[in-house]
Amino acid sequence: MENGRANMKPVTGISQVTCTAPVNIAVIKYWGKRDEQLVLPINPSLSVTLSQDQLCARTTVAASADFKRDRIWLNGEEQPVDAPRLQKCLGEIRRLARKRKHENRERAGDLLGSCIHVCSENNFPTAAGLASSAAGYACLVHSLAKLFHIDGDVSHIARQGSGSACRSMYGGFVEWTMGRLEDGSDSVARQVAPAEHWPELRVLVAVVNAGKKAVGSTEGMQTTVKTSALVKYRAEHVVPSRQEDMRQAILDRDFQTFGEITMKDSNQFHATCLDTYPPIFYLNETSKHIIHLVHMYNRHHGKIKAAYTFDAGPNAVLYLLQDDVPEVLALLRHFFPPGSTNNSDREFVQGLPDVNRKDLPADLQNTVGLEPSPGSIQYIIHTRAGQGPQVLTDPQQALLDENGWPKKQN
Ligand code: PMV
Repeated sequence: MENGRANMKPVTGISQVTCTAPVNIAVIKYWGKRDEQLVLPINPSLSVTLSQDQLCARTTVAASADFKRDRIWLNGEEQPVDAPRLQKCLGEIRRLARKRKHENRERAGDLLGSCIHVCSENNFPTAAGLASSAAGYACLVHSLAKLFHIDGDVSHIARQGSGSACRSMYGGFVEWTMGRLEDGSDSVARQVAPAEHWPELRVLVAVVNAGKKAVGSTEGMQTTVKTSALVKYRAEHVVPSRQEDMRQAILDRDFQTFGEITMKDSNQFHATCLDTYPPIFYLNETSKHIIHLVHMYNRHHGKIKAAYTFDAGPNAVLYLLQDDVPEVLALLRHFFPPGSTNNSDREFVQGLPDVNRKDLPADLQNTVGLEPSPGSIQYIIHTRAGQGPQVLTDPQQALLDENGWPKKQN
């Protein structure tokens, strides 16, 4: 049988761990590597870890001397295990475990001769373009670290899977330091403040109906670093002080500064994409309309009440405070109502309850002055800041069965 289950005997001495890990959305963007192999950034970055109640990756890893080779299944499909980034993470974890063995920590060493099975899935559609690789690699590395009994920070390993994944290793508000060392060991993630530090902060993820797939982040940042003078200026002269100001804004729960820097940094990241030759366009017309709407909304109130940010795609992520959620949702429902074809089977606003639902005040509607565009936003996920990776102890929640094979496969 192709999947190797033929004549399957129960596997002996299997070790298994299941974890979940969160998505993070940067407010100071990472764009550009100074070392492709080690995934070292040209500037520091800072993000908010989103609650796993709405968005998370789940991964089960198993090790057994009976496994014939390393294997991985993602969202129900077996994937080649020789993908370089995956190999990097597996290799680094095994190297650390070996080091531990030499330090006489036998538990980690026991598994070193075993092959590994990995099974991972997201609780949200990968096609929605919602930082799935960050959650996925953070989950893989956290699970492997638990399997091999490796304690301490392993964000430098997650970083080598996908740069932004290192920030998903912690909850709340997280920065990724640039580091100076050649081996990259000081380019790590650390928590600026836990999620509970700013309980009123809310996040609306507007999943925008996208056309064809945009340029991937690896290729995109390579071309930007090669061709854009602006990205060099940004890394040297803009981000260092912005990172400090953003950290302080978070510590002070200062939404005005937090929102302003978030929007400016998203805009500058997309400006570096336009400055790339040939240019890269991640924002589409809907994204631009959302930007306009947020600025008009803030102008209407004479202060920053909502802030947008966009990654390598057209989806908008809005940061705002709890009290303003009903008004901003009323705006989004009015100007981007569900289309007739794409929302029949799901709620337009998902996630945290849409309490105190309100109608859009006429003066605010006039200030925004857009034509409603039905179907441009597929759906909205209402969420908040949340915790870092978690271990699940209930075997029911494992994605591999007791013999280390996927419970479900496409
Ligand atoms: O980690 P990557 O290679 O997927 O790059 C992420 C880049 C952005 O999402 C655009 C910015 C960021 O800091 O998350």
